[in-house]
Amino acid sequence: MSLSAGQAPFQFHDLHPDSENFRDDVLNGLARLPKALPPKYFYDARGSELFEAICELPEYYPTRTELMMMQAHAPEMARLLGPDCLLIEYGAGSGRKTRVLIEALAPAAYVPIDISRTALRQCAAELAAQYPAVAIAAVCADYSRPFAMPRLDGVAPRRRVIYFPGSTIGNFTRGDALRFLRHAQALAGPGGAMLVGVDLKKDPARLHAAYNDAQGVTAAFNLNLLARINRELDGHFDLTAFEHHAFYDVGEGRIEMHLRSLCEQTIGIAGRAFQFSKGETIHTENSCKYAVGEFQQLARAAGFVPQQCWCDADNLFSIHYLVNA
Ligand code: AVI
Repeated sequence: MSLSAGQAPFQFHDLHPDSENFRDDVLNGLARLPKALPPKYFYDARGSELFEAICELPEYYPTRTELMMMQAHAPEMARLLGPDCLLIEYGAGSGRKTRVLIEALAPAAYVPIDISRTALRQCAAELAAQYPAVAIAAVCADYSRPFAMPRLDGVAPRRRVIYFPGSTIGNFTRGDALRFLRHAQALAGPGGAMLVGVDLKKDPARLHAAYNDAQGVTAAFNLNLLARINRELDGHFDLTAFEHHAFYDVGEGRIEMHLRSLCEQTIGIAGRAFQFSKGETIHTENSCKYAVGEFQQLARAAGFVPQQCWCDADNLFSIHYLVNA
């Protein structure tokens, strides 16, 4: 655990989620058929920057829609959640939606958990400076796996509230989302609650455009995964020999992102060789889309009771309030 060096103190617990797992997951994922890599590895410092740029794109509606919904509904959310809670956020991002929630809610403490060390430290430092009355303990960890919650001495929260914005839950398969919600339900504990942002099913053309933007930022975000393997694992990918490929699968109700090999090639990584045929892909991300009832059913299966759901006027995005029975 470390404390920040600046004026506003916050705890920083580094559980070192990175190097070993990254190497093993890459070597195992590329040895499989079909090849696949976990999307959590998109978010190194460069990947986090590119994701922030995606959030500003005209085609990528989720971020601004959810932010607008938070601005509209945060007072009602705060009434439902009550004062003096321990707010636990999966992911830190830029913290813009979090700011809206913290201002309305005035939690006793805030625990952001993120795999991206740089983004997490920056977000925690900014929030600590802005909200000195809120105890902040940042945890650098992979929140898809069990992790130790930090102790917050002198803080006696009334309930735990888990905040999971951004439809990041869509990046799990439906089966993994259920397991994840079960963990969240256990972490929230008796009387706890969860606020979760979920992208809605909609016109496939709109979804296709959101993941195939005209400026090519999503393509750069996807290809950065190969650049990261080159940087960190002695990889030898030629980034011009792969292309971004994203499409909506109506049957699965999800966007799939892939990196497609433009030729037959052999790539060396960490002393191992991986063969690619022309047209072969690495599956890098799923982004599942849910109808409101479909997500509520998943939440119920995980042990939550759905209490409220907000949608925007164009039915692009939903925010669910779930409670522990
Ligand atoms: C973080 N996650 C919810 C984004 C999504 O829409 O699935 C990641 C992303 N991938 C491409 N564009 C954005």
